[in-house]
Amino acid sequence: MKLKGVRGAPDLLPQETARWQRVETATRFLLQRYGYAEIRTPVFERTELFVRGIGEGTDIVEKEMYTFIDQGEVNLTLRPEGTAPVARAYLEHQMAAQFPLVKLYYLGPMFRRERPQSGRYRQFHQIGVEAIGSDQPAVDAEVIDLLWALMVEEFRIPDLQLRLNSIGDAACRPTIRDRLRRYMTDRSSALCPDCQGRLTRNPLRIMDCKQPGCQHLVAEAPKPLESLCEACAAHFTEVRGLLDHLKIPYTIDERLVRGLEYYTKTAFEVINPRLGAQNALAGGGRYDGLIEVVGGPSTPAMGFAVGIERVIASLPSAEEEDVLRGIYVATLGREAQRAGMGLLQELRRRGMRGLMNLEARSLKSQMRQANKERVRYCLILGDEELGRGQATLRDMMKADQTSVELVHIVERLMGLEGV
Ligand code: HAM
Repeated sequence: MKLKGVRGAPDLLPQETARWQRVETATRFLLQRYGYAEIRTPVFERTELFVRGIGEGTDIVEKEMYTFIDQGEVNLTLRPEGTAPVARAYLEHQMAAQFPLVKLYYLGPMFRRERPQSGRYRQFHQIGVEAIGSDQPAVDAEVIDLLWALMVEEFRIPDLQLRLNSIGDAACRPTIRDRLRRYMTDRSSALCPDCQGRLTRNPLRIMDCKQPGCQHLVAEAPKPLESLCEACAAHFTEVRGLLDHLKIPYTIDERLVRGLEYYTKTAFEVINPRLGAQNALAGGGRYDGLIEVVGGPSTPAMGFAVGIERVIASLPSAEEEDVLRGIYVATLGREAQRAGMGLLQELRRRGMRGLMNLEARSLKSQMRQANKERVRYCLILGDEELGRGQATLRDMMKADQTSVELVHIVERLMGLEGV
């Protein structure tokens, strides 16, 4: 029986990886300009980190984690997200002592046992950014500016929407939650079964339920912004002022609450309305309580994560620049193949893209392969020509060919236009 891959965990094939690499390279370049350094944490952690960090009442912890007992001893989970692991590493390596504001980013796979559909996978990839150590609204604004620059300037995704909200902190969240719970309890018969469960465990999540009945109730329900304490309201006003100053367009979305429990104050998402149901390209916010929850001192922080699959699906479908690049060495005969291999070794060492056929195929089949590989030049080496110190150089773009001398051939090829 032919084995298949796992549903929701797609392969990335060679024709797709060039786009991924471009996204990753642009990301690294931008983050370095904003002063962020890369952190790489393991793909699994102790389960308790996610249970405490993300919160017991969340969908992720309740039903989406890949959890296993390692050797009958330690309870481990494949990371469903990167913020809790970064908070753990920040504490474990005493990073607070190095800089007052620690600015970290990561790229890599995450795992959630969700129902696979377009834009939703069980293994997916995130670009994550975390700024740990400051409660200043300027940090919120800079992090959001960075996210916007990434999506709009670097990836050039059109028509994006940035949605912004504040969901309060330890001081005002109990009031926000109680007001909402009271309102919803009086009307609970109209809630969907999931939201009836959320009413006790995590009432804020009712705000972003997609069921029409729940949405109808939410429209009139008390919103977090109406019950912010003075400090949270002032913080939010300052963040908005800075975003206006930086000319970052946003809309206030009073229903935005986010699916992880660690958020405080600012919460935001970037939506691509052109995608289907899974249209959130990125999400994030402040999480001033998380470091304490995972066992450290009270430490404010702010960050976001971008879903790379959804970014790739949003990239403008402009024809991939189809440039011809490098050289193909076509050979006829054993001596010519040896000479070709030596020549390619030298050209590749000098940085040129160079290919050849190693199976002694016919010239016709080699030329077909050269075309497929989209090379700019083809150097044809035959045993007989080789004996005369000559070869044929074909410019695949201009479709013309000349006879060339093999002395100084490396320098000659390196000097060609478009290699
Ligand atoms: P999140 O909203 O759960 O936040 O995920 C961020 C992004 O990851 C989403 O907007 C989406 O693009 C992508 N994503 C999530 N689940 C899937 C999936 N099953 N398939 C494909 N893409 C997916 C977090 O993970 C937080 N750790 C973000 C953060 C960082 N907050 C503060 N710092």
